[in-house]
Amino acid sequence: MKDNTQAAPRHVAIIMDGNGRWAQARGKPRLYGHRAGGRRVREILTACPDLGVKYLTVFAFSTENWKRTQAEVTGLMTLFKRYITREATALRDNGVCVRFIGDRIRLEPKLVEMMDNLEKLTKDNDLVHLTVAINYGGRDEVARATKRLACDVKAGTLDPEAVDAETLAKYLDTCVLPDPDLVIRTSGEARISNFLLWQSAYSEYEFIDTLWPDFSREIFAEILENFAKRERRYGAVAQ
Ligand code: IPE
Ligand code: IPE
Ligand code: MG
Repeated sequence: MKDNTQAAPRHVAIIMDGNGRWAQARGKPRLYGHRAGGRRVREILTACPDLGVKYLTVFAFSTENWKRTQAEVTGLMTLFKRYITREATALRDNGVCVRFIGDRIRLEPKLVEMMDNLEKLTKDNDLVHLTVAINYGGRDEVARATKRLACDVKAGTLDPEAVDAETLAKYLDTCVLPDPDLVIRTSGEARISNFLLWQSAYSEYEFIDTLWPDFSREIFAEILENFAKRERRYGAVAQ
């Protein structure tokens, strides 16, 4: 019989949801949950090389999250800056190549500068690739990509007849990344909330009830074990 089991997913993307509810259950402000959630990123990232995961992408702030209170938005931006300051050296020394996806135009210049610097600092690393989605929305990403593509057509450097899915993918924020093999969402919500719409066309999904601050290396390993049993057919018929 043919062995249809998968190796470890090369690229895992995570919708880190449930920080607010986790804090609320403890009678704490939402930011307390975001801080706890931030700590989980390090734990999961460190587990990746042992588990055979080469690319980890995490959804940190969506294009829709601006609808939250000013206090929460500012608090999250402060956390991102603090995370970069605290983790930069360790990320560099531990072989992590960091990238950010999403539209930087709406982010404060200080944060954008820190993101650029961290990307530069870690660009030659190749043990594990961490991508952080900040002010990221799948539709926004496709729209921005289309705009750039249209500019190239207008400039005469791209033949509209030659445009196919592969061409468009080259204009996405994720152009250098493989598509995610597995997308995990915590907190019990079974929706994708505008995350990696294009890239997850054939991703496997795992929706789990655990709130993100309670996520652990053990839960991660268990999910990867389940993934290994799945059969991915990509539209073909099983052999
Ligand atoms: C996810 O946790 C983190 C962000 C969206 C920034 P939430 O803040 O959405 O937590 P819940 O869903 O309200 O519990
Ligand atoms: C998705 O979570 C965005 C991130 C995890 C950063 P949300 O909590 O914003 O999504 P909805 O509002 O429940 O769909
Ligand atoms: Mg949420």
